[in-house]
Amino acid sequence: MSADTQKQISGLAAIDHIRDGMKVGLGTGSTAAWFVKAIADEVKAGMKLTLVSTSNQTTHLAHSLGLEIRDINDVGKLDLCVDGADEIGEGLALIKGGGGALLREKLIWEMADRCIVIADAAKHVATLGQFALPIEVEPFAYKGTINRITDVLSEFDIAKMPILRKKSGEAFVTDGGNLIFDVACGAIHDPSGLASALKATTGVVDHGLFLDLADIALIGTDEGVKVFY
Ligand code: 5RP
Repeated sequence: MSADTQKQISGLAAIDHIRDGMKVGLGTGSTAAWFVKAIADEVKAGMKLTLVSTSNQTTHLAHSLGLEIRDINDVGKLDLCVDGADEIGEGLALIKGGGGALLREKLIWEMADRCIVIADAAKHVATLGQFALPIEVEPFAYKGTINRITDVLSEFDIAKMPILRKKSGEAFVTDGGNLIFDVACGAIHDPSGLASALKATTGVVDHGLFLDLADIALIGTDEGVKVFY
């Protein structure tokens, strides 16, 4: 089974957790897109849902499918958020942000009673860190911020430089107007300590470590969808 088919079956499996009347956060990326398409089918079939989005990309997709996206500030707490991930490690610790939407994703995840992560089998790892950790940075004085991030990384025995993410040769700019620096950490042995230290670094807006946020992982495998808690 291809990775895309694994993404598709995990996205479709998340529909089993949707009930009429729910307030639902829509994630970002190719796996989340399968979920958004399945949600559009449910709404066309008559289900009533209040939907919010984690990125402009997902909002565009939702609109193209005829879905209404509400402002999170008008909706308040959500019943559920369903989103992809770049790595799913022990205890459902995640790396997210490969699509550059990590800040708005985290803002929406934190508003949800329950978060479901959907992914293909390759995302399930023993130790986080093979996927480069995205760090979202305020553009003003970013060089000083990068120096501070490098100092933090060295405290965690990570001797890697943050690399500015680019798109079509230009700096990638997030929906919120920030830069992303990716760090090829290698094994992250203390995700919780690193997450706290990065969050406390001036100029860091947020980072792609999502810890203690996911409640369920639905992972598409060649043997079907496997559920992890
Ligand atoms: C976007 C994300 C995505 O959920 C993550 O990159 C996974 O993407 P895909 O489902 O396309 O593999 O965090 O910021």
